[in-house]
Amino acid sequence: MGLIEQLEEVLLTVDADLATVNNNAELQQKKANYLGKKGVLANVMANMRDLSIEEKKELGMRSNKVKAGLEAKFEAKRIELEDAIINAKLANETIDVTLPGVSFNNGGIHPLNQTIMELEDLYIGMGYSVAEGPEIETDENCFEKLNLPKGHPARDMQDTFYINPELLLRSQTSPVQVRTMLAEEGKPIKIICPGKVYRRDADDATHSHQFMQCEGLVLGKDITMADLKGALLEMARKMFDKDRNIRLRPSFFPFTEPSVEVDVSCGLCGGKGCSTCKGTGWIEVLGAGMVNDNVLRMSGYDPKEIQGYAFGIGVERITMLKHKIDDIRNFYTNDVRFLDQFKEVK
Ligand code: PHE
Repeated sequence: MGLIEQLEEVLLTVDADLATVNNNAELQQKKANYLGKKGVLANVMANMRDLSIEEKKELGMRSNKVKAGLEAKFEAKRIELEDAIINAKLANETIDVTLPGVSFNNGGIHPLNQTIMELEDLYIGMGYSVAEGPEIETDENCFEKLNLPKGHPARDMQDTFYINPELLLRSQTSPVQVRTMLAEEGKPIKIICPGKVYRRDADDATHSHQFMQCEGLVLGKDITMADLKGALLEMARKMFDKDRNIRLRPSFFPFTEPSVEVDVSCGLCGGKGCSTCKGTGWIEVLGAGMVNDNVLRMSGYDPKEIQGYAFGIGVERITMLKHKIDDIRNFYTNDVRFLDQFKEVK
């Protein structure tokens, strides 16, 4: 066989040879066999010494073509192998969207925090801002500046955890009012203050030594009890339902005058009277009143210029009413069977 025929022969055999190649390493090996320094092509060309100039020219041209042909075949095979790998991967990683999903055991927002978030939402909607204060307070902020001097009998209403004679765990969120008034120096105020409070109560179904309040304070020119009633009626209708009513009953708090106890109409009987409302048609939810002149003066406000109201919502109380929970301890014992019921369904 002449050299040219040998060359052409290479192009014919390479196909069958390539068909046996399964991976890139084998492909590289084969490529070296054909196109490498000691490959088939180089072997043929090594024998061209004995040819005439014309024949060398002819052979040169042919060998270039064969070389190009081989390279094209190797490149095609390389792409074929690469595609096969990608296709296998795709087939492997196909997701069966009909398979059942893995369920994650996500936590939820605590029911008391849900109530606070709702309160914040509705009061922010009425132009209030949210203020916070420390849980360790001074006797001065928690009592003195709220018109409760040492020895005042009304201090007994809140049995307090003292750290020393001057420091205590706050028994109400009202000291945040005091802090805000001192900071605002006579300017109008419109805030709510949610947070934890502490009292030396024995824990039972309706008492907890730690619970939450959401205080409100609005100070400005010509603020009246009608404004207070409006703010609380809006709260009752948003927190419970749009058919609720409220009523104010005279009461006493040292920091407000006049003071009121606020009832919401019973949602179970619609006000007719049932066991939940003890036959009265009303349920007590919070204390409120017009800020006492003494309180205003002690924190730098002139009662002739500026007046306003304050209210203190019991967060547990309205959460219990809203969700018909009969034991306050449920909020603090972290039983997931209880907490799971308040997970938002997403
Ligand atoms: N701080 C009072 C309490 O804990 C509630 C209250 C707040 C009453 C503001 C009137 C005005 O009992």
